[in-house]
Amino acid sequence: MCKEMEKKRHEDLAEIHLGNLRKESHTIISNQLSKTVLIDSEKEILAKEQCIIKKTLNGAYRLDKIPNKKIIYHAYSGCYSETLTKAIKDNRLMSTILAQYFDGSIYYLSAEVFWINQGGMAIPPHQDRSYSSEKQLSIIVPLSLNINSKYAMSYSGVEEGTTLDHNLSISNMVYYAKSIQQYVFSVNYKPTDIILHTQYSMHKSRSMPRDGKRITYARYLAKRNN
Ligand SMILES: [Fe+2]
Repeated sequence: MCKEMEKKRHEDLAEIHLGNLRKESHTIISNQLSKTVLIDSEKEILAKEQCIIKKTLNGAYRLDKIPNKKIIYHAYSGCYSETLTKAIKDNRLMSTILAQYFDGSIYYLSAEVFWINQGGMAIPPHQDRSYSSEKQLSIIVPLSLNINSKYAMSYSGVEEGTTLDHNLSISNMVYYAKSIQQYVFSVNYKPTDIILHTQYSMHKSRSMPRDGKRITYARYLAKRNN
């Protein structure tokens, strides 16, 4: 395909994804990453997790509430994969969507990782705007190849601008949306897909039993440069 046609195809696809973001506050970009990239990236991240716990690598993180076990629930810095970062930065469709989402302004990406751990905490239903109301786009990459959809992060479509009231759970230090009875959540992605969600997106996961299989998610948070 010639460059012009490729560019036009990306612009058309970006328009569809931006439409999904307006309607549902999240969108799934299918088949964007190879399984090799996922395997290599997860390995890199798991090695870094150990270094962060042993304090041979600096990183801001939160441990999960698992008795007698040090396991990270959310790493806010220091834990990213170079392989994955390159794949995300080289993805032309992603760059097209981000440029349109931020109206051509400069944005920056920060890398995080979170896990759904065996016997660990749930992600209560919430919108990210309860933590930060800035215009933002989360690029979520499920890295584990085997994802049990019963415990994976699930989404419910909410229109852009929908604001739900949240409470802070003091015991877990997480926000949760108060009235969610009418929302139906589902896992509509698979490994190799990339999920994009805005600060209005509603998402959650149940807590995984001790004999479950840990799920790793990489997250790149795009925000406008101030
Ligand atoms: Fe979130």
